[in-house]
Amino acid sequence: MFNTISTQAKNLVNLATKSKLNSKTKVVTITSGKGGVGKSTFTANIAYLLGDFGYKVAVLDADIGLANMQVLFNVKPERTFFDYIEGKFDNIEEVFTQTEYKNITLIAGKSGYEYSSKASSFVFTQIVETILELDKFDILLIDTGAGLNEYVKEFLDISPNILAVTTTDPSALTDVYALMKMVSTYKESLLLTFNHTKNYQTGSTITESIKNLAQKNRLNSNFMLKYIGSVSMSQNIATTGRLRKLFSKEFGDDQTTLELRLVVDNLLNNLRV
Ligand SMILES: Nc1ncnc2c1ncn2[C@@H]1O[C@H](COP(=O)(O)OP(=O)(O)OP(=O)(O)O)[C@@H](O)[C@H]1O
Ligand SMILES: [Mg+2]
Repeated sequence: MFNTISTQAKNLVNLATKSKLNSKTKVVTITSGKGGVGKSTFTANIAYLLGDFGYKVAVLDADIGLANMQVLFNVKPERTFFDYIEGKFDNIEEVFTQTEYKNITLIAGKSGYEYSSKASSFVFTQIVETILELDKFDILLIDTGAGLNEYVKEFLDISPNILAVTTTDPSALTDVYALMKMVSTYKESLLLTFNHTKNYQTGSTITESIKNLAQKNRLNSNFMLKYIGSVSMSQNIATTGRLRKLFSKEFGDDQTTLELRLVVDNLLNNLRV
């Protein structure tokens, strides 16, 4: 009974979201399943490259395990979007933090939040909807934490674009397959990018293997897995991360930045509203 009502409510929210919002803002949720594969690094650096191109970008830190976007952008947010959820501010813009980077606004998160207490009210869906209604940003990037919990799923549900980050590590691939299996039941596509992967072709070959497996296992045949590029392992990425800087800015001519630029180009070419 509860599930039925909950599903209906969810459908209503989705319908409302689709019909009401003629927002120019495109939403991309970055996820992986496995932890530590580079989601946050990708999110922050993709935001930088987009901002540098002239796009207005908002980054929502939706990792409740360990919100770390403020570390990557080297800012100390005074407010998080949970302050808005808790009703401390009426206007969501009051919890926005400007970063030192051109065109990038951070909507900071908070670690250790207890999701279950708020789970029934679609509060995160409403947050995203409110940001879209502002119509201030070209792109909203949502960085999720590891795993496929209800909290991450709510962001996947509302997002027309999902970017999965993986490595070639078997456990990461197993997790990304599980993610794809779930997403394929209600989405048309999933964008896939590889981290710690030197060769563009390697990512492409593995993507084909995943597609073959999906076909063998009879996953939704209309569903599309779209490979959009890979980024090599690099000491510069690890070092800039530690120094609270962005590799795509500090090492703009590095191979890894060129690789990520290609990911960004492909992402832009595949964005859905
Ligand atoms: N291509 C790379 N080369 C070298 N180091 C990298 C690369 N990508 C990410 N890292 C480093 O790996 C670590 C994990 O990256 P990151 O925090 O982005 O992963 P994550 O998927 O967001 O992790 P979590 O699941 O905990 O949120 C960081 O220290 C980061 O600097
Ligand atoms: Mg992260």
